[in-house]
Amino acid sequence: MSWQFNEENEKKFQALLKRYPKKNSLTLPSLWMIQQQDGWISEDAMKYLAKKLDTTPMDIYSIASFYSMFYLKPIGKYNIQICKTLSCKLRGSDDIKKYIEDKLGIKSGETSNDMKFTITEVECLGSCGTAPCVCINEDYIQNATPKILDEIIDKINEKK
Ligand code: FES
Repeated sequence: MSWQFNEENEKKFQALLKRYPKKNSLTLPSLWMIQQQDGWISEDAMKYLAKKLDTTPMDIYSIASFYSMFYLKPIGKYNIQICKTLSCKLRGSDDIKKYIEDKLGIKSGETSNDMKFTITEVECLGSCGTAPCVCINEDYIQNATPKILDEIIDKINEKK
């Protein structure tokens, strides 16, 4: 069977459909739902969405590929996003990145073999006042240090 929304997301999609005058206005929320459903956005899912929104897969791809928060290939269960913008750079984000890369044995942009961790460098996370900032999935770690991240990663590794 080809890709489709699960029951919950189909309900959300139908509810959103009533709120927008044009179908293509649902592109971003729909891409978000796809990513929440699968953890990433596949070509099949983009084709499915294009059909649903009466547009082309290329239109969907052009939007999905523009935003760094959308993942077009599978990523780890825990996506460690390290801010690489000025405030965080000045406050040690490079040291944090190196520490995490060494600890996990993967480089930025890579995923661990067990699909548990991905390291991603991102632009400003909007938390410059508490730089350096790291975001793991949707949780912000402000005033991050290698020691704090070491403890967090160890706790994640203790989970089953
Ligand atoms: Fe890192 Fe803004 S520069 S959060």
